[in-house]
This record gives sequence, C-alpha cells and structure tokens, in this order.
Amino acid sequence: MQPSEMTTPDAMSTQYSSTDRLTTRRSVWGPGPEGVSPVDALRQAVLDADPAAVVEIGCGTGHFARSVLDVRPGVDYVATDLSPAMVASATALGLAAVVAPADDLPFADASFDVAVAAWMLYHVPDLDAALRELRRVLRPGGMLAVATNGVGHLADLQREAGGEPLVTQFTSEVAEAVLSRHFSHVTRRDIETRAFFDDHAAAAAYLATFDVELSRTLPPFDAPRSYAGSTAILTAR
Ligand SMILES: C[S@@+](CC[C@H](N)C(=O)[O-])C[C@H]1O[C@@H](n2cnc3c(N)ncnc32)[C@H](O)[C@@H]1O
Repeated sequence: MQPSEMTTPDAMSTQYSSTDRLTTRRSVWGPGPEGVSPVDALRQAVLDADPAAVVEIGCGTGHFARSVLDVRPGVDYVATDLSPAMVASATALGLAAVVAPADDLPFADASFDVAVAAWMLYHVPDLDAALRELRRVLRPGGMLAVATNGVGHLADLQREAGGEPLVTQFTSEVAEAVLSRHFSHVTRRDIETRAFFDDHAAAAAYLATFDVELSRTLPPFDAPRSYAGSTAILTAR
C-alpha cells in the first residue's frame, strides 16, 4: 500500500477482505531492545483505566479485545471494524462485534469509559471526524488508547526492497498533535520493536501483504534477519 492508498475505500476492502494479510503481518513481531511488546503496553493502559465499558474501533481479528477480556471477563467490550471478515473473526473469538466505520459508531453519547484504536487511525478517511466520534461515545473523563507506527517503522526493510518509508497521516511523530485537537491531556510512549524473518521468503511474504512490487524487488538473502519497528502507545483524555 502506498501512503496515498492508506485511506481509500477500495484499498481498505482489498486489504482487509479477509484476515490473511493482517495475520501474516502480526505474526512477525517480537519485542525490541527494551523487551517491551507494544500490544502488552496498550493492554496495560486499558486495564489501568479500570473500565466498565470499552469500545474498540478497527478491531481486526479481535485478538486484542480477547486478550483484555481474558484478564477482565467482566468488562462490557464491544469490538467494531469496517470489514465484515474482521468482525466475523472477532465474533468467532466470542466477542460482541459489529461492522461500523470509525466515524459513524452505532452507540449513544457517553457510552464508554475507554475507546481503543490500535494501528488503524492511519486508515480512516477523515481523522478529525473519527476522533470527534470517539470523543462523543466516551464518557466525560473517558480515555482513548491508541497504537500507531513511526516513520522509521520497518524503514530499512522498505529501503532494501527499493521502496521508501511509509509516511501516513497518523505517524507517531504527529499523533500527539492530532489527538490534542480533540483531547486535553495526551501521553505518548515510544517503543522499538523487531520484526523477525526466518528467510527471504518470509520477508517477501510480509511485504506482499501491502506492496507486491516490493516483495519482488527485495534482494535475496540467506540467513534469518530482523528489522527495527517503531511504534507509539498514546492515551488521550
Ligand atoms: C492494521 S489493521 C489493525 C487491526 C487491529 N486493531 C490490530 O491491531 O491488529 C486496521 C484495521 O482497521 C480497519 N479499518 C480500516 N479503515 C477503517 C474505518 N474507516 N473504520 C473502521 N475500521 C477500519 C481494517 O478493516 C482493519 O481491520
């Protein structure tokens, strides 16, 4: 996916028509030098808020929601996603899940203590409309928990394949400023991660999930490799 295609309806329906590409991408990640997983950090931020009710937008396969409920089964958690295939996956994990675009959620004002948007705000066509919608469904004092990637995310892999780092509308570098347009208190924690590939085919398969051309131009290599990923976990109230 090129930066210009990150938000288009056609690209979204191709990219997320099934869970395959997302599952391939999720499978390569491990902790970086600090030994911290951004998914664990995001989950801890949600748990620390001790919510009674949570909404997640762009929930993908539903694994994050499932992991929160496994720790706190009493939480009233609703997972949403634009993709019917993702919602089906979340439902199969035993979640309450509905198809909904981030900027038009089928919930009353002030319904939730916490909202989660993990690695998805770079996809929404109108970022401010989605953030207004999240603000609307959160109770006063409620918290938005966000994960996103920095400009350096897998930049070395992209460059080796002849591409450029992916600069989205919601990189770690701009996320605080964007969230501050709708929330008065924003925190940001940067976390370096690592993507591990057993061989060239695994790295090419990863690239192919968003850019088939890059998967073809990645020069061959023999030994396992890992590449730095750059992520940020943000909270906004
Ligand atoms: C990169 S995936 C992240 C999924 C999941 N949050 C995770 O961390 O694994 C982005 C998800 O956002 C969803 N999505 C894209 N545009 C959306 C929109 N406008 N409203 C709601 N969901 C959207 C996609 O269908 C996809 O499941």
